[in-house]
Amino acid sequence: MQYETIKYKNHFRELGVIKDEDKIYLEKDFVLQSQSIIWDFNKEFWDHLEPFMNALGKDYKKSIGGTADANENLIKYSAQKFAKQLESIALTPLLNKEGSGVFFYLEMGAAGTDWAKEFIAECPNKNFAYVFTDFSKKVLETARHDLGSEFLGVKIEYFCLQNDYFSNEDRIETFKEKYDNKILRVHATNVYDNFPCDRVLFSKGFFYIINVKSYITKESFLFLIDKYTSVGLTELRLLGLLQRLANPPISYMHGETTYIYQVLKEAKDYFSNEKSFYEFWQDLWNMMKFEEQLTPTSVDEKLTKLFNSFKDQEFEFSNSIDVENDILEKYDLLMTGGCIEIIDIIVNDLLEYKNFLGPVKYDASIANYLNGPLLQATLKEKFENVEIQTKSLKDFGGKRNQTIMEINKN
Ligand SMILES: C[S@@+](CC[C@H](N)C(=O)[O-])C[C@H]1O[C@@H](n2cnc3c(N)ncnc32)[C@H](O)[C@@H]1O
Repeated sequence: MQYETIKYKNHFRELGVIKDEDKIYLEKDFVLQSQSIIWDFNKEFWDHLEPFMNALGKDYKKSIGGTADANENLIKYSAQKFAKQLESIALTPLLNKEGSGVFFYLEMGAAGTDWAKEFIAECPNKNFAYVFTDFSKKVLETARHDLGSEFLGVKIEYFCLQNDYFSNEDRIETFKEKYDNKILRVHATNVYDNFPCDRVLFSKGFFYIINVKSYITKESFLFLIDKYTSVGLTELRLLGLLQRLANPPISYMHGETTYIYQVLKEAKDYFSNEKSFYEFWQDLWNMMKFEEQLTPTSVDEKLTKLFNSFKDQEFEFSNSIDVENDILEKYDLLMTGGCIEIIDIIVNDLLEYKNFLGPVKYDASIANYLNGPLLQATLKEKFENVEIQTKSLKDFGGKRNQTIMEINKN
């Protein structure tokens, strides 16, 4: 099947067809998009957020067009909702017993602390503990430096949700044990759109997985040599670097950042100064493109039903098992009366995907529209008592393409 590629700002696609001999591949085979090394690069970016931003004199929040975490109307709305949750828990002896006295508010994605400070200040009842989570230890360390272990009388905890390669401790399990049935509200802004996702093409009743293989063009390669040879990156070194990226060891596991980290660390040693290294990293990221391959796939009843009314249409959409699993996991940890609040770029009508071809690059990270209808269908299929509300952020004076989704456990 012929598939047209489209040029999109900050995108992984290139206009027209680039001949194979003009590409230097960064992946050996076609893989599901969620398995591509782009996600490992994304992870490394958050792990190096501070030095990356300092070296390039940037602020990630500016790059993503400002964060909803600074929206005062939204903070007030959410703090009021949380206050009501605390009130009704206090009035319900059974729930109070379940929660054994300490109620936790969980924030995912600790790259920013704006929300935490304003939210805590806005909360009339300070009888709860605030937990910051992230997969990056470094991001959490920076947040701890900023907020400490107590803020306006509220205890702050930090929990890294990434298992340490060198430790036997299963941190995710420890996390689940510690907070099971004690979380009253989860808050996640611009986090789930940063999770690995796959892309699927729906075409007139049929579904195709879009597999990808990342590359840079020879032209980009020559540009990098030209720009960075004087600061230490010779042609041979760059070629070696790209070959290593494309040939990870057999034991390499996605999500374990060690391999990409090793390659980037090696690259860093070539550069005579830190700024050039981060500039190179940014350039390489900007130059990464996808070659794409369509594979017909069958889908479950839920997806078939969702797409029934679009039979004559053709558009692609995102599907993230990681997002689904994570939300299901968080839902399990909620106490009855709890809520997961997701603030993100969320597609609420599948046809909106016609105007968005994700994922998009920001600095050296990724943003992708969340598939709202699919997520809602999954949650409703699994939980009888779930109640989901969505509101556009334009109701709070924010961006119209952003949504707050509240998933309530009744
Ligand atoms: C765009 S920042 C959002 C920070 C803040 N909420 C804001 O809007 O400014 C995304 C954050 O999510 C974290 N993150 C991304 N994927 C994650 C995952 N799978 N588990 C936990 N944290 C993750 C990143 O490390 C980063 O701190």
